[in-house]
Amino acid sequence: MSTTMTQEKERQTAEVTQEQFLEGLNVDLAHEYSAVITYRTYASQVQGQWRMELRQFFESEIPDELGHAQILADKIVTLGGTPTTVPSPVKAGRDSKEMLRNALEDEIETIDRYVLRRKQAEALGHYGLAVEFDDLIRDESTHRDEINMILKRWDTG
Ligand SMILES: [Fe+2]
Ligand SMILES: [Fe+2]
Repeated sequence: MSTTMTQEKERQTAEVTQEQFLEGLNVDLAHEYSAVITYRTYASQVQGQWRMELRQFFESEIPDELGHAQILADKIVTLGGTPTTVPSPVKAGRDSKEMLRNALEDEIETIDRYVLRRKQAEALGHYGLAVEFDDLIRDESTHRDEINMILKRWDTG
């Protein structure tokens, strides 16, 4: 196994140092900021016969993602870290279907990261924070399910 692969593997385990955990929380925060920008951008850009519905749908996600960013930024400061101010890259969506697929992919990745982060929080004894991740996992799962429902009947109406 190459060094990079070993390092990658280590990051996937629950056994992390406090420093690595803080780095992970900042990755999460960068993705929440990116989600806010993504949903805002898609809401403005979306075109076609479902524009009004999708615009409203994308906009309805923003307060949730901003709330998640608040929880993460507060916890990073509480744990002695510095919250990132740089969002992770926003994926371009050329049409409404690609926007929905990008959003679905992001939500699924986010759930995976939070399941891991929850385990890491517990391993480090941050039990309160572990419970907060339950709420985040619930919210992102709802987002994922809603997007899935929209995409399911996309071509047949
Ligand atoms: Fe979120
Ligand atoms: Fe979400």
